[in-house]
Amino acid sequence: MQGERQSEALNRSTAFDNKLRPLDFSGFVGQSKVRDRLMLAVEAAKARGESLDHVLFSGPPGLGKTTLSYILGEAMGVNVKTTSGPVVAKPGDLAGLLTSLEPGDIVFIDEIHRMAKTVEEYLYSAMEDYAIDIMIDQGPNARSVRLELPRFTLVGATTRIGLIAAPLRARFGLVNRLDYYQPAELAEIVRRSAVKLAVDIDAEGALEIARRSRGTPRIANNLLRRVRDYAQLKAGNFITGEVAKASLGLLEIDPNGLDDMDRRILENICGKFGGGPVGLSTIAVSVGEQADTVEEAYEPFLIMEGYLERTPKGRVATRKAFSLLGMSAPSLLA
Ligand SMILES: Nc1ncnc2c1ncn2[C@@H]1O[C@H](COP(=O)(O)OP(=O)(O)OP(=O)(O)O)[C@@H](O)[C@H]1O
Ligand SMILES: [Mg+2]
Repeated sequence: MQGERQSEALNRSTAFDNKLRPLDFSGFVGQSKVRDRLMLAVEAAKARGESLDHVLFSGPPGLGKTTLSYILGEAMGVNVKTTSGPVVAKPGDLAGLLTSLEPGDIVFIDEIHRMAKTVEEYLYSAMEDYAIDIMIDQGPNARSVRLELPRFTLVGATTRIGLIAAPLRARFGLVNRLDYYQPAELAEIVRRSAVKLAVDIDAEGALEIARRSRGTPRIANNLLRRVRDYAQLKAGNFITGEVAKASLGLLEIDPNGLDDMDRRILENICGKFGGGPVGLSTIAVSVGEQADTVEEAYEPFLIMEGYLERTPKGRVATRKAFSLLGMSAPSLLA
């Protein structure tokens, strides 16, 4: 239970995110395709003196969606107004937000998949025609009023791209999927964060933290903070590979970067279902999580790391998964 809370805490956004958040493209490590595409779009929009196209970011938590949204604001030299899907509950909330903008401003809607359908429909015309038709009054006096909006840029972020309706998705000119980071990229992020936190770190120390970060910059930064505490008290404020290993061991951080839900998914597939094939919804029920969360937040990492495969018959655990859990694999397994 404690482990569970710990790993959740490791990937929660904190005020700490803000301190380590890169402020421009040059500080943003990895995701080079996405970065190049965005830099090009920014340059082109600025050269034309236009607002940036609407941008959608999808991908698992902690990979840099919010960070990139602020970087876009900085690069365009515009204000970024932030809100989130569940907060924009009524069409009036959306109208209030959009009419307060200056031309070119960015509206960042986090968790855009959680926006109410009724509001989403208003967003369509706002994004396309830069106008919004609001009904005022009720009954016989009801009438619709058209509000003209400044040319703005909508930046949406979602961890659940599967829940974004096709008409909404189609209105984004730039759709970007963020993927898990490679250990070398995470090590680079850790080194840069260490500079900001005024702690010394060597290459092995950074890589040791990177390897246990589940491909996720936010987790890497949070682990760095914990290792820093240890280094400060016990190792003269210098993080070597040994120091990182010792402190991460003390904190019981999984050496492969798996969190508790990752492990539970594998334990269920290997233990209860003999390694599969087993359907997604069955897995979801057995671990008490929603099917699309399992599919979009957990499986991609397990597949990337070679613990799990998707087959037409269902999910299958690999030999690597069995050996991780210290179980013997069925002999038929590839
Ligand atoms: N490419 C990167 N280079 C350097 N640091 C990064 C990068 N991506 C993310 N970070 C760090 O990780 C933290 C978390 O990133 P961010 O808040 O942008 O994630 P997110 O995708 O918005 O997550 P969530 O889905 O939980 O909102 C940032 O504050 C920043 O410190
Ligand atoms: Mg975010």
